[in-house]
Amino acid sequence: MTDRFTLAHRLSPDHFTTRLHADVRDGLTAAPKTLPPKWLYDTRGSELFEDITRLTEYYPTRAEDEVLDRHAADIARLTGADTLVELGSGSSAKTRRLLDALTAHGTLRRYAPVDVSPAALLAAGEALCRDRPGLRVAATVADFEAELVLPEPSGGPRLVAFLGSTIGNLPPARRSAFFSALRAALGGGDALLLGADLVKDPAVLLRAYDDPHGVTAEFNRNVLHMLNRELHADFAPGSFAHRAVWDAEAEQIEMRLRARTAQTVKLPPLDLSVDFADGEELRTETSAKFRRAGLTAELAHRGFGVRAWWTDERERFAVLLAVPD
Ligand code: AVJ
Repeated sequence: MTDRFTLAHRLSPDHFTTRLHADVRDGLTAAPKTLPPKWLYDTRGSELFEDITRLTEYYPTRAEDEVLDRHAADIARLTGADTLVELGSGSSAKTRRLLDALTAHGTLRRYAPVDVSPAALLAAGEALCRDRPGLRVAATVADFEAELVLPEPSGGPRLVAFLGSTIGNLPPARRSAFFSALRAALGGGDALLLGADLVKDPAVLLRAYDDPHGVTAEFNRNVLHMLNRELHADFAPGSFAHRAVWDAEAEQIEMRLRARTAQTVKLPPLDLSVDFADGEELRTETSAKFRRAGLTAELAHRGFGVRAWWTDERERFAVLLAVPD
């Protein structure tokens, strides 16, 4: 590793276990039963999500890439950023085109990825430092929902990228809180680059979240394997069916796991026994879909002005640039 790479830890050693226990206890004793979507992403879940992004039916990744490809130079020109912060950076795959454009523009000095996975940050940071001799990589292990930590300004504007429509996974109240926290952390010249999936024909949405190859079903059921491993639970994943549902009123897709028969599941470390009725559903993810007017108003309410709104050719997905008002 070079001296251009730093990795800061902002998660307490017991963060994972404490959060998992609290989320599972709260979610599985609630009516209806729920689990926060972040628990879908263990090592296997992250692999399955990568597989999903390659499915024809799952259009968001390709649609966002199309926008970033077409407008990376505009983003660089409009922001003049010297620091690119990326929330939920994962493998940093889609970041490369932004880094390229900001480098070509001549302003980029620093890349600051933030993720819960130290392994992903190490791998991405190592590769980027090797490929880009002029770049400093300041990575942070953090849960940006629990604590939003941005690197201090280092002379130029910071661009905070939150891509992939992960914003859609936050319920509306937490989404507002997130925008407020981000607004408070940003200064005059800084900007937010947000990827947001758009409302569209429900049939297209349902295909994207219930693909005929069963990859999304496997991704969804993987959360039960994770609970079996981490909490010594005794879920029989095969006894739950994957469902994708479009809530037309809330304009969100939900992923659910439906019990094929009545059953009881034990979670020893929580001293918890959970009954599922025949056909009872556990909601594992909500994925909100957005409209231009609504999202613009929501950002305005939290102190952001939308400077640019770009979509793919078929207007399935938007990438917007917002700045503090
Ligand atoms: C990457 C979190 C935005 O909501 O589309 C893919 C993940 N879930 N298929 C989404 C996901 C089901 C996803 N996000």
